[in-house]
Amino acid sequence: MLSQESLAKIDREIAKYPPENKQSAVISALHIAQDEHGWLSVPLMDYVAGLLDMRPIQVYEVASFYTMYDLKPVGRHKISLCTNISCLLRGSDDILGHLKKRLGIDFGETTPDGRFTLKEVECLAACGGAPMFMIDKTYYENLTPARVDEILDKLE
Ligand code: FES
Repeated sequence: MLSQESLAKIDREIAKYPPENKQSAVISALHIAQDEHGWLSVPLMDYVAGLLDMRPIQVYEVASFYTMYDLKPVGRHKISLCTNISCLLRGSDDILGHLKKRLGIDFGETTPDGRFTLKEVECLAACGGAPMFMIDKTYYENLTPARVDEILDKLE
């Protein structure tokens, strides 16, 4: 279900905690699993649960709580737009409107060509650069519609 490389990474995360608390590595383990597969299917979460001696439901609870995990397939690039208070006050609505118009999708959807998925997320701790979004693992701040076009043009 996971490559030797991913399993070695998870082992390194588990080693950071006392043996009786290996479930504390669940956040990292889910990241590693998602990085390899692109999203977290139920069988993949069950597999992670097995690695950490957890009940599957405990892993589902973590995976469904945080917006950084994807429980269904996503496009090649995931745009995580922050709509929390600082970003809202600094124009995240305009950015959302622009993204919807340009990509033809709403939150939770993927473009028909599979290039982009748009997600709504809570504060990503970059409020000083609001409005902002994260694409894959890169932060882009002080967004304007023109800046969004510039960024997306480079990814298409
Ligand atoms: S409110 Fe958007 S990054 Fe904090």
